[in-house]
Amino acid sequence: MTKPTAAEPADPSPGLLARARRRASSTIALTVALGAVGFGYAAIAPSSAAADQTPSADAQRGQQIYQTACITCHGRNLQGVPDRGPSLIGVGEAATYFQVATGRMPAAAQGSQIPAKPPQYTEEQVNQIAGYVQSVGGGPQVPSGNLRDGDMALGGELFRLNCAQCHNFAGKGGALSSGKSAPGLGTSTDQVIYAAMLSGPENMPVFGDNNITPAEKRAIVSYVQTLKETKDPGGNGVGRLGPVPESIVLWVAGIGALMFAVLWIGAKS
Ligand code: HEC
Ligand code: HEC
Repeated sequence: MTKPTAAEPADPSPGLLARARRRASSTIALTVALGAVGFGYAAIAPSSAAADQTPSADAQRGQQIYQTACITCHGRNLQGVPDRGPSLIGVGEAATYFQVATGRMPAAAQGSQIPAKPPQYTEEQVNQIAGYVQSVGGGPQVPSGNLRDGDMALGGELFRLNCAQCHNFAGKGGALSSGKSAPGLGTSTDQVIYAAMLSGPENMPVFGDNNITPAEKRAIVSYVQTLKETKDPGGNGVGRLGPVPESIVLWVAGIGALMFAVLWIGAKS
């Protein structure tokens, strides 16, 4: 079987063809040239832009707070202090927002898992500190605006796949190995949930945007927040502890009924 080729157009005027070819090759040349300029610019632009940037007023206020509350453990240039605190270069606004908004930072002392406490700063100050850390070290950022507009069904699926093994199916939290624990998500705000995924505190993995896309993160936020608002997320009301305790309750009740039946039959005969 030979396939008819579409190489010969109906009207192969040689002049037209040559002109078209010439036009095509100059377009390619132009694209290549533009591409080269673009890459060249991208290679030098970030360093010069960073050097020119003067910090905004907010970042300056953030810097003042940083210098009083964080510098002893994280260092003057976010580089970290041995045996006190890790480097904050590259952790970004997301991790800083997470740590300060949940009161984990400033840490009172070293520990295996620094506890969440009532936050020490207002929302505005938290954003200023986070903005400062971002401006110096760069890193992942939490998007602004409404984060709760995602697809609920998708969010539920992703939550069960990625989060439930540590935080429980109903977001109640649970114990992990070596004395650590995954907290309940009952009081976490939208921004904290999003920032937790981006920064992966303690034993929690980092869920980068290649792994869970921003749209999927919003779906998870929507799901977690709706789960909390719903009185009964399904299953039997055994403290929402998950399928295992629920089946234990069923099992105990079932065995009890069986024993009762056995004893009753025994007594009758
Ligand atoms: C007493 C020492 C101490 C002070 C003060 C302190 N930190 Fe920390 N910080 C730590 C330690 C230790 C860790 C590592 C915690 C962990 O692994 O769970 C940490 C972790 C962090 C992280 C997470 C880094 C990452 O890799 O995700 C951020 C962000 C952070 N601190 C910001 C701050 C900010 C902002 C302040 C000031 C408001 C502050 N810290 C004050 C000791 C401190
Ligand atoms: C391997 C276990 C693990 C997995 C999986 C995990 N987490 Fe976590 N998560 C943790 C631990 C541990 C902490 C506490 C970190 C700390 O105290 O610094 C935490 C903290 C959080 C917090 C902060 C709660 C608060 O308000 O203090 C949120 C929100 C959260 N996780 C959401 C999620 C979401 C959403 C997922 C799934 C995409 C997820 N986690 C997957 C272990 C896990």
